[in-house]
Amino acid sequence: MLKRTHTCGELRKTHIGESVSLNGWVNTVRLHGQVIFIDLRDRFGKTQIVFNSEDYEGDFESVKKLSIEDVLSIKGTVQLRNTGAINPDMPTGEIEVMVDSMVLLTETKPLPFVITDRDSALEDLRLKYRYLELRTDELQSNLLTRHKTYQSVRKYLADHDFVEVETPILMKSTPEGARDFLVPSRIHHGKFYALPQSPQIYKQILMISGFDRYFQIVKCFRDEDFRADRQPEFTQIDIEMSFIDEEDIFENMEGLTRHVFKEVKNIDLPDPFPRITFDEAMSKYGSDKPDTRYDLFLQDVKQFTDQSDFNAFKSAECVKAIVLKGGEKYSRKIIDELTELVKKFNAKGLTWMEMEENLLSGGISKFFSGELQQQIIDTTGMQNGDIIFLVGDERNIVETALGVLRVELAKREGLADENEFKPLWITSFPMFEYDKNENRYSAMHHPFTAPREADIEKLESDPGSVLSRGYDLTLNGYEIAGGSIRIHLPKIQNKVFSLLGLSVNEAKEKFGFLVEALTYGAPPHGGIAFGFDRLVMILTGSHNIRDVIAFPKTASAVSLMDDAPNIVSQHQLDELGIQIKNGDKS
Ligand code: AMO
Repeated sequence: MLKRTHTCGELRKTHIGESVSLNGWVNTVRLHGQVIFIDLRDRFGKTQIVFNSEDYEGDFESVKKLSIEDVLSIKGTVQLRNTGAINPDMPTGEIEVMVDSMVLLTETKPLPFVITDRDSALEDLRLKYRYLELRTDELQSNLLTRHKTYQSVRKYLADHDFVEVETPILMKSTPEGARDFLVPSRIHHGKFYALPQSPQIYKQILMISGFDRYFQIVKCFRDEDFRADRQPEFTQIDIEMSFIDEEDIFENMEGLTRHVFKEVKNIDLPDPFPRITFDEAMSKYGSDKPDTRYDLFLQDVKQFTDQSDFNAFKSAECVKAIVLKGGEKYSRKIIDELTELVKKFNAKGLTWMEMEENLLSGGISKFFSGELQQQIIDTTGMQNGDIIFLVGDERNIVETALGVLRVELAKREGLADENEFKPLWITSFPMFEYDKNENRYSAMHHPFTAPREADIEKLESDPGSVLSRGYDLTLNGYEIAGGSIRIHLPKIQNKVFSLLGLSVNEAKEKFGFLVEALTYGAPPHGGIAFGFDRLVMILTGSHNIRDVIAFPKTASAVSLMDDAPNIVSQHQLDELGIQIKNGDKS
């Protein structure tokens, strides 16, 4: 190898006349008779290198045989490009290196897909050859943004007195909501470790130990259903603070978020971030993570449907609507697609009306008198050419379905500005959700979240109406962080466990160590965790979480490159005392 003197992104006009060595991959090859142009690439950039059969000292024929992605080492002299060949789009575009010697370091096999065009291959093929996909400009740039984000987060938090502490990856199974990934113990047959869904309990214990401000950039593991913004293993910026209330959390976390956006992408976020209650978010946007970049709101129209002849909505608890500007262009086919979408979210259907010549027409308009139509038009602000979509049902079904429709309409209409960044805190979450199937309450955030002081009495009398001290930070429709002020009094923690259907013994078995720790002088404390991958998705403008993770899993939790999960030898199973009942048939 000819050891490199420069990277492929470094040479400029000031280097003209210098003898240099470069190492890298063949990005493109252009044959012009007795002259061959190659763009040599490394992670720093590309440099045009030129082989001229008259000057080149080696075997010109072997240069002709070079293929894209071969790995080369070259030595040559930097020269100015001909005026017509100058490329203003490339930082090295004014120069080229006239090669006198070359070593072919490694030859590549024919490539399974075109590296410069990610769309040329299906994602499964790209994931199998992830090392090749990672060579693409897009993924190189995403991982560099991810790297910058780690550095920026660490610096900000360390500068603000947060202490980085690692917590165990092999822990006790303490289900927090999702299913645990389990690890069998060889030494203790029949016993299992669990991989942490988050370091929640450890970080609270660190507060009890007096660390006051903790952070960790940490892997979390959840065996749940995966979506475009979820992975079975993902990364959190995990944070906990003592002797604080919600305002301290908001101030510090806004500071962190603003710092990261400014440093990594030179984006100025607002100061302070706006806040909205969970109730308001649901009623106005139909979502607890609303994208506020576009003005499309849910509006209550029950008073009008009640007076109409449209009987299907008469018995509905709630009827709400969304008006889409210029939506009259929506064909029957599109409306059918939208109907299928809202049905997935338990709506019975999707009704609609269009506004034409100052009246409503089509859909269910015939059930509304002229006067009622006028009232709807006035209240919703509809104009000619607009369409109104209506759903009637229980309140949560109506809002969730219209919330999903809102996002879909915005996507179809391109309503969100990709260059706008709108953070929003969601507060005042209910403490519990009632699980009709299991006939009991479950924690809306997690069992360690404190109830609002004013609602503590209601834990006994009316648990369903208790609001928690939880909060989420959302940005452009993503939940990028979630956290809460914690319970620091054992009595309240035990009460909450019992409301969640855990008997004293079960609570002791699962979380006894935390409750005991709380009895040894626990400071009031609270914290939050950012979904680091989601943060990087937003910073890179990606819409798929896999595009910001070096080695991600597929939607069915498989790693196509290294074939995990995999079967293991009988010997390994015997050592663990495990017998497989039903192997994977897939
Ligand atoms: P929570 O469960 O809300 O809170 O998680 C915090 C943040 O982590 C991200 N996230 C995920 N990202 C990718 N893939 C997943 N499967 C996934 N699940 C969650 C989200 C979310 O906002 N211990 C608490 C935090 C606390 O109370 O301090 C917790 O884990 O961006």
